[in-house]
Amino acid sequence: MKKTVRDIEIKGKKALVRCDFNVPMQDGKITDDIRITSALPTIKYLIEGGAKVILMSHMGRPKGEAKMEFTLKPVADRLSELLGQDVTFISAAEVVNQEVADAAAALEEGQVMLLENVRFRKEETKNEEGFSKELAQLGDIFVNDAFGTAHRAHCSTAGVADYLPAVSGFLIEKEVQFLGGAVENPERPFVAIMGGAKVGDKIPVIENLINKVDTLIIGGGMSYTFFKAMGLEIGTSILDEPSLELAKELMVKAKEAGVDMILPVDVVCAKEFANDSETITCDIDAIPADMMGLDMGPKSVAAVKKVLAEAKTVVWNGPMGVFEMSSFAGGTIGVAEALAESEAVTIIGGGDSAAAVEQFGFADKMTHISTGGGASLEFLEGKVLPGIAVLEDK
Ligand code: 3PG
Repeated sequence: MKKTVRDIEIKGKKALVRCDFNVPMQDGKITDDIRITSALPTIKYLIEGGAKVILMSHMGRPKGEAKMEFTLKPVADRLSELLGQDVTFISAAEVVNQEVADAAAALEEGQVMLLENVRFRKEETKNEEGFSKELAQLGDIFVNDAFGTAHRAHCSTAGVADYLPAVSGFLIEKEVQFLGGAVENPERPFVAIMGGAKVGDKIPVIENLINKVDTLIIGGGMSYTFFKAMGLEIGTSILDEPSLELAKELMVKAKEAGVDMILPVDVVCAKEFANDSETITCDIDAIPADMMGLDMGPKSVAAVKKVLAEAKTVVWNGPMGVFEMSSFAGGTIGVAEALAESEAVTIIGGGDSAAAVEQFGFADKMTHISTGGGASLEFLEGKVLPGIAVLEDK
């Protein structure tokens, strides 16, 4: 167990807090602020406890240059609104300079400032000592609450912990509690639903979960690689050719582990990868040679719903079809609906499945939606995340 902000003295302390404010933006506007609202419990706790709060984050991948399309100014504005108080923001290309250091030193208890995008400095992603020290000098304690970036060993996520007492915030605590709890100590039956396009990307997660789950449901683009491995015709459907052998091995491993592996039994096919392309729904052994499968069909959705009705813990990562196009969203909506209706503990790995659950209005029906995309995947793979490993143990 890692120490949290509850375990240390915060009054009067300058708390250097790493958040993941890497929010989606369009035309300079934040389109989804869930990563900001998810950080509020920690920030408010620090404010109320009389800490001087210095927030830091990255946004996008500016590759060590002060590219203004990646400025955190919109985040500072949104935070001010959400907190109902001023958030000092100095848009320094160097992230830390004299003006920033002076502003940090002048903070009073309960006041908040946000640093400019830490990836404006090329040292950040290389975890170079010098920049870690510059950041660390601003604070007395380091609080990591950036679960979404905890799989990166960067200056602001890991390096600073060499110089400051380091604890987690409430978001990291919650993510570890739900994702870790589901995988290590699940109430059974425990079902994992894996989707997305490439088998290759999900192999380590599937391998880790195969020894823990009772049922593994495979859907989405990667199911066609499994169908091919079973010797079926997949037409022009997406194929992750290098992973064909692995798909075969996974089917054998699932059998050996006594895990029910469930694949779609029918699919929605189209000639073109386009929402207005004419579609047919067919069984998986009848995919026409000139068509591609783009979603799981209604028989598959019914089969998945039946399994989910019995489940006590469900982890879902990756969509069941091309849900961004309404013609191919049925499978993903069906799974989201089944999870929303279920009594089970429902954990949604971040990224596309989190976006789908939000988009179709089921977010508040889930037990936990992770704020991490890559981070939640690595966590489910059983990897130690560097941004968590550096924190002090209880
Ligand atoms: C994410 O969105 O997954 C995190 O913010 C990490 O971003 P990165 O993949 O650019 O490190």
